[in-house]
Amino acid sequence: MNFLALVLAVTFPLVIAASSEGSFIFDAFQDPQRDTFLIGNFPDDFLWGVATASYQIEGAWDVDGKGPSIWDSFSHSKGKVYQNQTGDIACDSYNKIQRDVEMLKELGVKAYRFSISWSRILPTGTLESFNQAGVDYYRRVLTALEAAGIEPMVTLYHWDLPQALQDIGGWENEMMAVYFSDYADICFREFGEKVKLWITFNEQIVFTVFGYELGMHAPGLKHSGYGAYKAAHTSIKAHANAWHIYDKKYRSKQGGKVSIVFNSDWFEPKTDSYGDQLAAKRMSDLYMGWLAHPIFVNGDYPVIMKEYVANVSRLQGLTTSRLPTFSESEKRLIAGTFDFFGLNHYTTSYVNHKSTAHPRIASFMLDYDMEISKDDAWPKAASSWLSIVPWGMRRLLGWIKEHYGDVPIYITENGMSQSEMDIKDELRVKYFKAYINEVLKAHLIDGVNIKGYFAWSLMDNFEWAEGYREKFGLYEVNFDDPERPRTPRESAKTFAGIIKNNGFTVSQDKSKTEL
Ligand code: GAL
Repeated sequence: MNFLALVLAVTFPLVIAASSEGSFIFDAFQDPQRDTFLIGNFPDDFLWGVATASYQIEGAWDVDGKGPSIWDSFSHSKGKVYQNQTGDIACDSYNKIQRDVEMLKELGVKAYRFSISWSRILPTGTLESFNQAGVDYYRRVLTALEAAGIEPMVTLYHWDLPQALQDIGGWENEMMAVYFSDYADICFREFGEKVKLWITFNEQIVFTVFGYELGMHAPGLKHSGYGAYKAAHTSIKAHANAWHIYDKKYRSKQGGKVSIVFNSDWFEPKTDSYGDQLAAKRMSDLYMGWLAHPIFVNGDYPVIMKEYVANVSRLQGLTTSRLPTFSESEKRLIAGTFDFFGLNHYTTSYVNHKSTAHPRIASFMLDYDMEISKDDAWPKAASSWLSIVPWGMRRLLGWIKEHYGDVPIYITENGMSQSEMDIKDELRVKYFKAYINEVLKAHLIDGVNIKGYFAWSLMDNFEWAEGYREKFGLYEVNFDDPERPRTPRESAKTFAGIIKNNGFTVSQDKSKTEL
């Protein structure tokens, strides 16, 4: 039994006592020590929100001076995205600000997380290409949010690098750390009066591994064994630069916060063997720790990660590790560059030990002697990677507290996909109740410092390489209609109900509102 499991065993009797129903949400999970539904409330100032990202919703890909991004190029290349779908129009949010804000009001959220498209503001990525029309668009969004009393949380980079910067190497070129901080500076200057919650990067692990290592996302590179490490390395420095710019130039005037968003599964050992327990720990250390440890701990990668990659690199006949190193001054620059912890969480995986290092194949995926898998018993969403395992949320939040201390946490994304065939979203209704209930347990029972929760997503949108076939929306969008009408799903009503009650009161079924 690991430490966290022990905590769970000791604290869960409280849950049962606190619940007036002793009920379970998913048939697959019926452990009274772990899965019992908890009645209770979040703090009064808890920030309820929904999230989206520029390329996934805006459309208007070449309008009003916007430059192309790597996602424009990638989706326009045949065979990269399901049915060659693109974000050219997407949800047409560029032209539908009022309707989007109306939906936010219907849901009753206090906050909206969206991202800025870098190449709308700087079409070639660098300062000399400043595009006032791009700035004006985001000003219109911010003004509409302000009028509705909804707080913006703004992501600077949700994967849509200006293509002109990819043409000179993208995130594998260390100059990106400078270009990104110039871009961040412009955004702080132009929007900082209205934006108090900033996120530099969304999920570095996804855009670096899928984009620079596996070639499944833009820019589609397969620099196996090197690409992700290099790209992530640059982005960590870029983040630190942007945080310092805010800290020095804007914080005292604008009074906002700047941080970063990581995504992680909860990694559960597949068996209780010592090897699997170590493998699961290693997986968390490298998956979340790779990006979070430098910023939240000491300016450097976790020791175990450095050791593993160095060893495998040596095995492969290399004289230096494939994992780049930070200089002492870079470490000082990076450590402590956070104002909160942003977490995207969707699912849980099993991890088991398996010798994977290969003398000839350099690959991020083979550097750590482990294998991940899912449990067939776990309910499944439409995305192949997304099994529904609510209790993983609570364990992951506990892990963050254990590793990074009492840092304020915003859950910046959580949600599930349904396929084009699923007309009803009963499963999503259950998903939100169960996952949010685990957040409540983490808050009330474990004392994790959780400040807010953002559902992914406000509406169906362009799900990267899966196009429009995986639907994450609280609102359904009809992509066959040029008007892109949005209609609330059942889960939108459930989410609105949870927000209205600020948690769960007496009966979980009362957490539902008519929209
Ligand atoms: C996240 C990503 C979002 C969205 C979501 C659902 O990784 O930040 O943009 O695609 O997953 O897959």
